[in-house]
Amino acid sequence: MEIRSTTDKDLDVFVDTLHAAFGRFPETPAEGAGVFWSALELDRGLLAVTADGRPVGTAAAYSFELTLPGGVLVPAPGVTNVGVLPTHRRQGVLTAMMRHQLTEVRAGGEFLSVLLASEAVIYRRFGYGPATYTQRLTVPRHRAALARPRAGGTADAAAAGSDTGSVELLRRAECGGILEEVYDRYRRAQPGALSRPHRWWASGAGRPPVSRAPRYVAVHRDADGVPDGYASYSLGESDTLTVDESIATDDAVSTALARFVLGHDLVSQVVFKHFPPDHPLRWQLADFNAGQLSNHTDWLWVRLLDVPRALTARGWFTDGELVLDVDDPFLGEHGRYLLTVRDGKADCVPTDREPDLSLDVSDLGSVYLGGTAPSTLVRAGHVRAHRPGAAALADALFRAERAPHCLHWF
Ligand SMILES: CC(C)(COP(=O)(O)OP(=O)(O)OC[C@H]1O[C@@H](n2cnc3c(N)ncnc32)[C@H](O)[C@@H]1OP(=O)(O)O)[C@@H](O)C(=O)NCCC(=O)NCCS
Repeated sequence: MEIRSTTDKDLDVFVDTLHAAFGRFPETPAEGAGVFWSALELDRGLLAVTADGRPVGTAAAYSFELTLPGGVLVPAPGVTNVGVLPTHRRQGVLTAMMRHQLTEVRAGGEFLSVLLASEAVIYRRFGYGPATYTQRLTVPRHRAALARPRAGGTADAAAAGSDTGSVELLRRAECGGILEEVYDRYRRAQPGALSRPHRWWASGAGRPPVSRAPRYVAVHRDADGVPDGYASYSLGESDTLTVDESIATDDAVSTALARFVLGHDLVSQVVFKHFPPDHPLRWQLADFNAGQLSNHTDWLWVRLLDVPRALTARGWFTDGELVLDVDDPFLGEHGRYLLTVRDGKADCVPTDREPDLSLDVSDLGSVYLGGTAPSTLVRAGHVRAHRPGAAALADALFRAERAPHCLHWF
């Protein structure tokens, strides 16, 4: 079996093979399927081909930018379109493609890659760890009143009660470039967020941001009329208002948009589909238990390919020093690093000092964006702490300015 890179000429065979892996039928394409595939970057695609020339597996990557803690933007290939024909499963085809892909990513100068996992049991063996999480929040309309913000909160919280901006109601098709501009401002400051390439917005390539179906969009504008947030939504069965995306460039805007959707008439409940783990809305409701969280799930998985580069790239918020012993069984690599954080910047150098923590590269991927506490992985038996206090120090060090969150599907 050979793993080979694809070119534009391979589009049909790539799509056919992937469809067969997922048990779908490319011969009856859904409306807009061609546009969907125009997001593919075929120079980053892979085909697994048998000795007699039959394609049996696919993998590809989109060239995204990922926001690290501290608002640092780095290139992040988003691994996608992974499939192996049912006739060729469990024979190492995916393993060979993953090895090939990681080698190429590293050779191209990128030091991490990301993906969304169809099943959580697949990718840890290749060095990926779940790094961001998402959930759903459901608020019954009759319990949706917001409390008055208490004095002494942050400027954002104070502003939340006295929004000086305005909300304009548009249909999705009328939004022009507004959503793309707002999303881009938001994602640059949100750890764990991915860029969305222009063509995904402009031509609906890939999974069109927001939705392909008709949507209303509440666009928030600041006092000068500049758009700074939006909430896209639809009203469905049982008078449920579902918010696909609520994107805001600060907390006051987020609150104004929540107030808008929670105040919609003739609605029984409001469902926020992608609710960040640390979102303040539940605390803003007069009735804390009005908001019910559900569908908590992994979202972005991270795979580090160069530990010192990755650790020195992100921003840090607590000073400290840790020795990390990192094992990378899939790539057959091992390194011990002294991580020293001072004034928001890290230094990371090889060391032979005794380790504070021993961990697998997939666990380092999980804690990298600050969304998973190292102490949780110690308690789970994934990470070994070699001295008392090491896990707590790691928790303090790896924490980000806010919980990482990603709502882009790819
Ligand atoms: C997931 C998929 C790509 C795996 O491909 P594959 O070629 O069978 O994987 P490999 O043979 O390289 O498997 C490597 C290891 O992972 C395990 N593994 C792979 N997929 C698994 C799954 N879905 N569930 C449990 N274990 C899995 C294998 O058992 C094997 O374990 P081993 O090394 O202990 O023997 C394939 O099953 C598939 O196409 N599934 C449907 C589409 C899909 O889910 N794609 C992923 C999108 S994110």
